[in-house]
Amino acid sequence: MNAVDRWPFTVRPLTPALGAEVSDLPLADEMSDATFAALHAAFLRYQVLLFPPQDVPPARQVALARRFGEVQVHVMNQYHADGFPELYRLSNLDANGNPNGRHPDRGTLAWHTDGSWQRRTGHATIIYGEVMPDTGGETHFCDMYGAWERLDPAWQQRIAGMRAVHNLDFSRTRRHGEEPMTEAQKAAVPPVDHPIVRTHPDTRRRCLFLGDHAEYIVGMPYDQGRALIEELNALAVHPDLTYEHRWTAGELILWDNRCVMHRATPYDPATQRRVIRRCTVIGSVPV
Ligand SMILES: [Fe+2]
Repeated sequence: MNAVDRWPFTVRPLTPALGAEVSDLPLADEMSDATFAALHAAFLRYQVLLFPPQDVPPARQVALARRFGEVQVHVMNQYHADGFPELYRLSNLDANGNPNGRHPDRGTLAWHTDGSWQRRTGHATIIYGEVMPDTGGETHFCDMYGAWERLDPAWQQRIAGMRAVHNLDFSRTRRHGEEPMTEAQKAAVPPVDHPIVRTHPDTRRRCLFLGDHAEYIVGMPYDQGRALIEELNALAVHPDLTYEHRWTAGELILWDNRCVMHRATPYDPATQRRVIRRCTVIGSVPV
């Protein structure tokens, strides 16, 4: 797909590695199958798609997500939004719309891929920015194809067959001190193991698959596995492979969790306002 002039919308790449802005495509309108096919091709090519500020009602966000596949209903049901269990709202506002001083999910500050704690991991995530802070609260993305390709052959050979155990209770509760998961929530999402190098099911390219939900390496002493995961997560994030997005309210970003890690940057939840709504599509079992 090199012929950008054939896109039925305007595409402007954001970095050499990943990311493109897609404009002239009103997301609140019904989308034809042909336009969606082009959007899907752009998604596979650029990994992260940014849409300029526009009104995207909750139902349209869910409808767009459904074009990609089955939409996740998050186990942490305290976050469900607008009567749509498929939407997950992260907000630091109180009932009067004032900052409440609490960050709604500190786990998002570490590099991760959505839903890697499930057997079928996250496919697309779609975030709509309702209210955005003046400073902080950015979202950063990292190209995990590039992360794999940048590793030297000795590293590639060493890790190619390894599997990591991903665990939401580890990343959220034990690692970041979030509100503890209930026993029922924990039982619903037991730890699962995935290859740390996966082949993208659509592009057939290999990429690193780790992030903050990865707790330890199967068959390796716990501490050694932790150190390896930390080292690989750090090696993956390189300026040539990242796109750092400073939000404007009303923007929407769509990305591919199968080949992208992301994180949010901190903001001051006592003085700044930040509200996003998120929808994640469930993908396949990584291989
Ligand atoms: Fe996330």
